[in-house]
Amino acid sequence: MEFSLKEVYKDYFKIGAAVNTESVDTCKDIILKHFNSITCENAMKFAETEPEEGKFTFGDADKIYGFAKKHNIPVRGHNFVWHHAMPDWIFNNTDREGLLKRLENHIKALTERYPDLYCWDCINEGIEDGEGYLRKTPWLDIIGEDYFEQVFAVAAKYVDKPLFYNDYNEFDAVKRKKIIQMVREVNEKGIRIDGIGLQCHLGLNLKFDIDEIKRGIEEYASLGYKLQITEHDVSNYPYEDREIHLAPTFEEYKKQTKTFKEFFSVLRTYRNEIESVTFWGVADDTSWLNYFPVEGRKNGGLLFDENHEPKEGFYAICDF
Ligand code: GLA
Repeated sequence: MEFSLKEVYKDYFKIGAAVNTESVDTCKDIILKHFNSITCENAMKFAETEPEEGKFTFGDADKIYGFAKKHNIPVRGHNFVWHHAMPDWIFNNTDREGLLKRLENHIKALTERYPDLYCWDCINEGIEDGEGYLRKTPWLDIIGEDYFEQVFAVAAKYVDKPLFYNDYNEFDAVKRKKIIQMVREVNEKGIRIDGIGLQCHLGLNLKFDIDEIKRGIEEYASLGYKLQITEHDVSNYPYEDREIHLAPTFEEYKKQTKTFKEFFSVLRTYRNEIESVTFWGVADDTSWLNYFPVEGRKNGGLLFDENHEPKEGFYAICDF
């Protein structure tokens, strides 16, 4: 394996990986060789960092941030507001002002501890798939219809780097329209949203439709948003499939390799629009796809296998 992803893509975009406290040890060599961006898979999420009000637990995030600093790897911030991974206390006995104050304290603490992340996902997955506009969450219930504005305005007080909105099914024409409507509404109020995080969990939440992806990238970019691919992997099984597969078949891997290849060839044509491409994990042994949407199977959605060896998909995206 003579290729290094970050070298191969040095004139295109940063190549990132989501990591956890285990993978920074077990996959250290791969990370250092191939990646020049790091996202904490879970360690900077709300419930991990402030499980009780005002009691911050930065152990895991510190370990990852320390690793990144030591090796000079830029870090993406992920995330402040989501409908998962929130501690119970945050929504209890509070009102709009109270919740915003809790959020502000949280953002202040995170950004003081990790002052130099190169961007932050401020809201994750706040738009409905299908019918409806804003996702029904306690954030919406308690703060109200303008909660996107409120959240981004608070974030902008503490973060001078780009502020991102991050979502999945982001190329679907109906959802894309709603995402664009929302970010523009916020911007029109004079509040910063600088970029859109395109998760790109392909194969799972999205049919692989290359034309829709191109249209999506072009439309988001034409509106002036910075674009980052934030959580890429290629599931070998569709979301509806709940079987406990022990390994993808040869045919499934062949299809996956083709998807990686085509997707990256499109991404390369948008090198001026796309700043970074992050994989949601390093190697298949610790990927979330092994327990989502069903526990205990082996999916193999990344470029490195369980033994941390590069797969066909790896060579397919290095060879162009
Ligand atoms: C979403 C989130 C990520 C992560 C993945 C699955 O896409 O944005 O933080 O939790 O789900 O692990």
